[in-house]
Amino acid sequence: MRTETPPLIRLEEYRPSDYLIDRVDLDIRLAPHAARIDATLTLRPNPAGTAAAPLALDGDDLRLVSAELDGAPLAADAYAASPSGFLLRDPPPRPFALRLVTEVDPTANTKLMGLYRSNGVYCTQCEADGFRRITYFLDRPDVLAVYTTRIEADRAEAPVLLGNGNLVETGEAGPDRHFAIWHDPHPKPAYLFALVGGRLGKVETSFTTMEGRPVTCAVYVEPGKEDRAGYALDAVIRSMAWDETAFGRAYDLDVFNVVAVSDFNMGAMENKGLNIFNDKYVLASPETATDGDYAAIEAIIAHEYFHNWSGNRVTCRDWFQLCLKEGLTVFRDQEFSSDMRSRPVHRIAEVRSLRARQFPEDAGPLRHPVRPRAYAEINNFYTATVYDKGAEIVRMLRTLVGAEAFRTGMDRYFADNDGRAATVEDFLASFAAVTGRDLDAFARWYERPGTPRLAVTAAYDPAAARYTLRFAQSLPVSTEPDGPPLVIPVALGLVGESGPLAGATCPDVRDGVYVLDRPEAEIEFEAVAEEPVPSLLRDFSAPVRLDLALTDGQRVRLLAQDSDPFNRWQAAQDVALRLILHPDAHRTEAFAAALGRFLDGEALADPAFAALVLALPSEGEAADAVPADVDPDAIHQARSDLRARLGQALRPRLESIDAALARDAAAPYSPDAASAGRRSLRNAALDLIAAGDPQAGAARAAERLTEATNMTDRLAALGTLALIPGEAREAAFAEFAARYADEPLVLDKWFAIQAQIPEPGTLERIARLQGHPAFTMTNPNRVRALIGSFAFGNPTQFARRDGAGFARVADTVAALDSTNPQVAARLLTAFGSWRRLEKSRGAKAVEMLNGIKAIPGLSRDTADIVARTLG
Ligand code: PHE
Ligand code: ZN
Repeated sequence: MRTETPPLIRLEEYRPSDYLIDRVDLDIRLAPHAARIDATLTLRPNPAGTAAAPLALDGDDLRLVSAELDGAPLAADAYAASPSGFLLRDPPPRPFALRLVTEVDPTANTKLMGLYRSNGVYCTQCEADGFRRITYFLDRPDVLAVYTTRIEADRAEAPVLLGNGNLVETGEAGPDRHFAIWHDPHPKPAYLFALVGGRLGKVETSFTTMEGRPVTCAVYVEPGKEDRAGYALDAVIRSMAWDETAFGRAYDLDVFNVVAVSDFNMGAMENKGLNIFNDKYVLASPETATDGDYAAIEAIIAHEYFHNWSGNRVTCRDWFQLCLKEGLTVFRDQEFSSDMRSRPVHRIAEVRSLRARQFPEDAGPLRHPVRPRAYAEINNFYTATVYDKGAEIVRMLRTLVGAEAFRTGMDRYFADNDGRAATVEDFLASFAAVTGRDLDAFARWYERPGTPRLAVTAAYDPAAARYTLRFAQSLPVSTEPDGPPLVIPVALGLVGESGPLAGATCPDVRDGVYVLDRPEAEIEFEAVAEEPVPSLLRDFSAPVRLDLALTDGQRVRLLAQDSDPFNRWQAAQDVALRLILHPDAHRTEAFAAALGRFLDGEALADPAFAALVLALPSEGEAADAVPADVDPDAIHQARSDLRARLGQALRPRLESIDAALARDAAAPYSPDAASAGRRSLRNAALDLIAAGDPQAGAARAAERLTEATNMTDRLAALGTLALIPGEAREAAFAEFAARYADEPLVLDKWFAIQAQIPEPGTLERIARLQGHPAFTMTNPNRVRALIGSFAFGNPTQFARRDGAGFARVADTVAALDSTNPQVAARLLTAFGSWRRLEKSRGAKAVEMLNGIKAIPGLSRDTADIVARTLG
């Protein structure tokens, strides 16, 4: 049996459901191998659906125990049930109650979808279509119901029982068992259902909303780890307060619970009132978490909390509208983090991750519109494009209409769609309504895949003091070359020799933004007293690739003089990128000198920003800039050489930065952005010193490892050392492993660092690590730390000429596919860049892909990625 290409579900085929479910009453008895779900669904025909249609409920791996209609057992010929569906042949043409009892095995559930056990804790994951693995249902986001859930369990096994909504009752259920009843008054789609049962510790506090509602907020974790849950709880409170001031959104239940589980396919899930998290994004202590972990926890706690309005109160009509909740919620969490931290620094981090993950996706075979038109497996569309490009679209919308109208439009969107399942059109309609603008052309951003190219040329006429900018936009030929143009907001300014040019005027630029809505256009600035350097796409005002031929000298002027921090950083990146692609000793010296002046002037004034300027474009970014035939080894070599040269040239400055920040490193740890910024600069300095002088660097890094008082510094030192082969490195790895033998999340960092070592020996190292007692294929975090870091973070070894790197990942995908297809499929997306690789490597990748394709009984998840990747 050969795997077929899975069939497609299409947006244009959307039809309202024939039936609606108003109420769901669940009685769930938890047991390790046979959990019993007694569900009563209160249904009625949908006036918008087909009258007298049979009722077809979704199921996945279910076993039906019994079925009743309005209190009477169903005759055998009245229905048909299989693991994957329940059909009621002749439903009454009026409201009715269907009672279905199903049984599932939570312990055997390795897909981590539906009801499963993680470390002995019962939990659920229902997005996108996991609820059908609990009971038969109309498992689609436009069917909204009010849920009441009784959860019963063994008291010793599961003293804590949590559900959606508010707790209404608890009590005894026999000698060893107890129950809790939860009621969620807010109608919701099934993907937001959740329950948790287990032995858990908690930290809690209360928050009073602007509407005066007292809310008990709690974070539940593995007992004994309560002291690592405080930061997440604090982030919950700050998120609640921020959503009130920034968006006027208040929380709407009496309790808000977050639960950390150790086996989770994604980052976290916004179940109503009961967010379930990958423990990686909850647990933090200075000894076990880095500054990056703290920032990620803050962002993801906020993200899931913000979904309460953008996702839950207003949900999606169908999964094609996924960006409606995800893009918008990413935008909201980015704004939150920017307010909590440094806005420019955060913006740079956002764009780096967009370029690292979304740009390549948009340039490869897995490219898709932000709102896809068709999918075979929706789980494969939780992508950087939907999330991050989706967020960029919301950001552009705000730039276009202005902050004030944006807020009014958001208010309108929430008001008009509260309690409804909405579409992208509904979203845009709210902004069109409050601004009177026609947003139809803007809406093309949702439809057209590919990263647009924005080519700009400039001309200066000194006699007339006139400066002309010519813009031309295009999409990659592989998408739709001749489609209508996009609406691209270009934030811009002109920079003179000693700073931004005052006095220059251009009628087409409003509030510093020019809106390009034609394929080509030209704008003119008057009263331009000297030849300026254009600063374009300030704050990265649109997710495009900018083609603008500037000299290094002009870029260095931007680095030194521009008022836009993003473009200052970008200017340095552009010089560095060119030096990676076209090495040149003379220009490298000039660049080093410019960096030196920059560091002298302001490294210590804004260390976080300075650290970003010192971080050169990644190998992936460099590969992305090569037109074709990518040779990862050549890129790696060129980038390493550049780093070495910069490290040598800047050595005295790096030393003095290191010394100036040394005192700070000994102070008690605080995860705040300013302290984190100082650590990041000192660690960037160390890393660059080591690049220029590996011997000295190894000694320094080893020393730093012993001195470190927190995980941030320790891991940074280990990362530096990891690039320097030798005994010191191996000793450091061994010491680290011994020290954190009981800390799986810390060992993930150790797995990840080793998996990314750009040396041929890494494959063997990985084989060894797969046998390490802490490694297991059943935990997604472990697999991602070791194999994922290799596939996505080690370009030279993953794409080895002999194909052995591809083979390692392909074998993992094959081994994982039957137990956890979601994680397997995601890992497989690492092959998405094969077409851009130099031919012999590309051929090896295809060989592996074909091997996977030939596996009998391949999951839909993996089959879909293989089929699309091979194209
Ligand atoms: N909806 C989750 C989020 O906040 C992501 C997710 C998707 C989690 C599917 C689990 C399953 O982005
Ligand atoms: Zn989300």
